[in-house]
Amino acid sequence: FSTKYLLNKKILITAGPTEEPIDPVRVITNKSSGKMGYAIAEAAFNAGASVYMVSGPTQLATPYGVTTEFVNTAREMYQAVMKQVYDSDIFISVAAVADWYVSNYSDQKQKKQHQDGLKLEFAPNPDILAEVAALDNGPWCVGFAAETENLSDYAQAKRKRKNVPLLVGNLAQNVMNADETTMILFDEHGEEPLPTTSKTLAAQYLIQAIAKRLPSIK
Ligand code: C5P
Repeated sequence: FSTKYLLNKKILITAGPTEEPIDPVRVITNKSSGKMGYAIAEAAFNAGASVYMVSGPTQLATPYGVTTEFVNTAREMYQAVMKQVYDSDIFISVAAVADWYVSNYSDQKQKKQHQDGLKLEFAPNPDILAEVAALDNGPWCVGFAAETENLSDYAQAKRKRKNVPLLVGNLAQNVMNADETTMILFDEHGEEPLPTTSKTLAAQYLIQAIAKRLPSIK
């Protein structure tokens, strides 16, 4: 894979899940393995880019050549992205970011003797992708959408709502933690389904799809 589609480009990428603490020993998270984001980071590096990845907790080895910063919560991920964003040409938002954090977090471990069960309260996390896409002079943005139904309608609507030029859709029930993926690319011209393939190959294809769409002024 010697074609340097992204030579000299600076890529910022989020990957993996986020973890939202309930108390010092318990978290709420989701089933993202980080495989897709890590594969894209590696493919971007192999395509000649300098790559900064902000990753939630995963079991994966950090890809060679990729500067990686680990975070736990969505709010930490937001801070890490915002610190790096003005030094980036392209932002690829692959992380499965928790939509809410626990606003009644307890700094002591909750005891199971709670008589009526435990009530958690939630407050919304920042939408990192939407905030980056709304910046003046921000990077060119790529989003992901994992849906369980109506993929085309939901994904195209999400692309427009978050105001991103390229959004990658896939079916959540097939893709979380799997080694293969079936991606559909959504842009202003419509949708392009890709064949089911390994996340490694899909990542290489996505890098070419990004390079093809980049505005030449950047
Ligand atoms: O709205 P939804 O979570 O389905 O959007 C998915 C896309 O938005 C992904 O690219 C994800 O990384 C990004 N996202 C984000 N911050 C959030 C929620 C989602 O960056 N709080």
